[in-house]
Amino acid sequence: MTKILMVCLGNICRSPLAEGILKSKVFGFKTSIDSAGTAGYHIGEKPDRRSIGIAKKNNIDITDQSSRKFVIEDFDKFDLIYAMDNSNYDNIIRLARNESDKSKVKLILNEIFPGENLDVPDPYNGGDFGFKNVYKMLDEACGIIAKKLNENG
Ligand code: 4NP
Repeated sequence: MTKILMVCLGNICRSPLAEGILKSKVFGFKTSIDSAGTAGYHIGEKPDRRSIGIAKKNNIDITDQSSRKFVIEDFDKFDLIYAMDNSNYDNIIRLARNESDKSKVKLILNEIFPGENLDVPDPYNGGDFGFKNVYKMLDEACGIIAKKLNENG
């Protein structure tokens, strides 16, 4: 079973969407998918209403999620840790204890654009368009991740 963690800054906008979208695309019980934030600003909160809204429009319910902070033990619990942007990536890498921890951390948009190290833009201070854009990017990236999981387990 591949265990995947999606990570952004607040765990209320981007990574809850990534979690919900990926869960909607994998079949059976081959995976365990969770999300976390590198900052603790919103611990215990539900996803942002704009993330809930765009997910709902796409028939995905993320209202049962609640924000938590990334912890060192996540390196032991997960096989793949997808950072939403370069700043999150650097924050996670800084916490890594060894090369094995580091090797688990990937930038999610490299699934679509390998090696380009692009960011999923932080939509928190923008309007609904930003969330629509984030949804589109994550839907495409998670489609690629899910295809690999569904093929390889
Ligand atoms: P997220 O978005 O990292 O995609 O969850 C943000 C949420 C909250 C804040 C920043 C980004 N904040 O500064 O509170």
